[in-house]
Amino acid sequence: MFSFARMITSILAALTLASVSSVVVAAPAPADGDVSSISARAVAPSSRFVIYSDNWVTGALPAASALKGYNVVALSFLTLKGAVDQAKNWESLAGSKKTAKKNEYHKAGIKIIASAFGATDTPTTSGANAVNTANTMAKWVKSNGLDGIDVDYEDLSAMNKGDGKAEKWVSDFTSTLRKTLPKGKYILSHAPLAPWLAPSHQFKAGAYVKINKSVGSLIDWYNVQFYNQGLYGDCTGLLTKSGGAFPGSSLFEIPKHGIPLSKLVIGKPATSADASNGYMSPATLGSCVKKAKAKGWNGGVMVWQYPHANAGWIKSAKGGAFH
Ligand SMILES: *[C@@H]1O[C@H](CO)[C@@H](O)[C@H](O)[C@H]1NC(C)=O
Repeated sequence: MFSFARMITSILAALTLASVSSVVVAAPAPADGDVSSISARAVAPSSRFVIYSDNWVTGALPAASALKGYNVVALSFLTLKGAVDQAKNWESLAGSKKTAKKNEYHKAGIKIIASAFGATDTPTTSGANAVNTANTMAKWVKSNGLDGIDVDYEDLSAMNKGDGKAEKWVSDFTSTLRKTLPKGKYILSHAPLAPWLAPSHQFKAGAYVKINKSVGSLIDWYNVQFYNQGLYGDCTGLLTKSGGAFPGSSLFEIPKHGIPLSKLVIGKPATSADASNGYMSPATLGSCVKKAKAKGWNGGVMVWQYPHANAGWIKSAKGGAFH
């Protein structure tokens, strides 16, 4: 996922990586909120409707009614250099404003989290220390009164190396986050590219199949990016047979390699301008979601990004299969 603010860098990175890989991508602190009153089960919904917010919004978040139909909003991004874009916007709000927004959102059943890294950070390649980075970010989540963190790790060159360093970095980062942001009290999701959830000769060290093996129990769910790969463009490609360069990476194929179906959230761009490819109209997506639900999946839907997607978008994308 990339922000407009940093799109040029993203595009350059994507072009470089495309030639190598053909993967084109480019609880609140105790004093600050009342997460303790929310049951462990309630903190991470079992069907998730997640919207990323990276484009500037005055006051950081719109009225909660504008996000009716979602239960998680992810402020993007927390980077190695600190908060940027909407995460920075939130950070800059006065404490009383944060509390008021949180109360408004919690009443509407929407959790507020921060998303880490994004398409322009390359944590492993740039040599960041996984443990220190996790401690810094977990502390930021708490001191800014948020409900958790999403890990949008997109260090493609590290993953493509196949030497296991990317997998170890993500695993160390995840287990360290959980020391400060315990399961049941804080949300911890990841946002991997769909091909990373299936075995591939391009990711010899196992990518997320390996990461799930080592720290899967610590991850609440996966916001899977089913886009930017020239695949997943219709219900068949998305749900049952991805084919192409990454066979086995459609929704119902992924669990065959070990990652549970219940943790898979279908991620899509809001408009064709929000990704290189993989866009589906919300109505078409809704028809696929309805089919998937009928086959026993109920993971949820993620969209990149507000305000290109809104309440009407998610209503269509649910295809009448979810409330
Ligand atoms: C992935 O993690 C889940 C825990 O959420 C676990 O049940 C599953 O067995 C893991 N898959 C593999 C292949 O280890």
